[in-house]
Amino acid sequence: MNHTALAPAGPFAERIVELFWLFGIVAAVVYLIVIGFLVYGLRGRREAEASAPVSPKTLRAIGAAVGLTGIVLVGLTISDFLGNRALAKVPADALHVRVTGHQWWWEIEYQDSIVARRVTTANQLALPLGRPVMLELGSGDVIHSFWVPSLQGKKDLLPGYTTTLALLASRAGDYTGECAEFCGYQHAHMSLDVAAVPPDEFARWLEAQRADAAEPATEAQRRGREIFLTSSCRACHAVQGTIAAARLGPDLTHVGSRPRIAAGALPNNLANMAAWIANPQAFKPGARMPATQLASDDLAALASWLGSLR
Ligand code: CUA
Repeated sequence: MNHTALAPAGPFAERIVELFWLFGIVAAVVYLIVIGFLVYGLRGRREAEASAPVSPKTLRAIGAAVGLTGIVLVGLTISDFLGNRALAKVPADALHVRVTGHQWWWEIEYQDSIVARRVTTANQLALPLGRPVMLELGSGDVIHSFWVPSLQGKKDLLPGYTTTLALLASRAGDYTGECAEFCGYQHAHMSLDVAAVPPDEFARWLEAQRADAAEPATEAQRRGREIFLTSSCRACHAVQGTIAAARLGPDLTHVGSRPRIAAGALPNNLANMAAWIANPQAFKPGARMPATQLASDDLAALASWLGSLR
């Protein structure tokens, strides 16, 4: 998982890292020059000179330094302004994705003019390489902040208001996003798995996500589905192709294909799935998901069915 703003994977992040180095290097050079003059001035001065009038030569040097400072500041301001404009440009031919922040997970909806072709997932964002993606950011509760350091700067998600952010990945890979605004108890467990993949692979992924949940292949999975649909799970979660259609928690239609569960709190495997369902508060205190009391074989069956939803 790539997680650094200094290793950009697309043109927007490259713009930011260029500004970072420009500002950093200019500030370091200015600092060294100022300290150099300070040391020089302190060393060479004697008592008598301290009270002598300032020479015209020194005045000219001070004037030049002030002028140079102005030029550097204006230059940095212009480069900052140009960088901001490049980041805010609305790309043509963008894929539109709605991202909603919740305490404490990400709801991701791939838009389509045909409603039935829309895809809803959670904590998982796939991006086609080379094609811009326009995110429409909103919040279901408090202010969150969307940040995938390898791809873009941060953008806040505000309740009742839509902000936008363009992403463009030019290097294939898995990247991690985080919530970058303190949003309550589990702010630190609000992670997002981003995969930048070639366009044909992305098209296959999106098509697979559009499909209804896989039919159970084993007796245990069948039992697991029955438990899901007859217990409290259904009150919060949707699984497309079943009667479960609630939108309070993450859509679980293809939960088995996600690399991690609970917004990055745990790797996705059957043991973690079962442990999470039995007692979410042990892993993510304050999470909105309540514990589910189930016999151990029922719990294993439920985890097995969810794991099969690829
Ligand atoms: Cu959401 Cu911090």
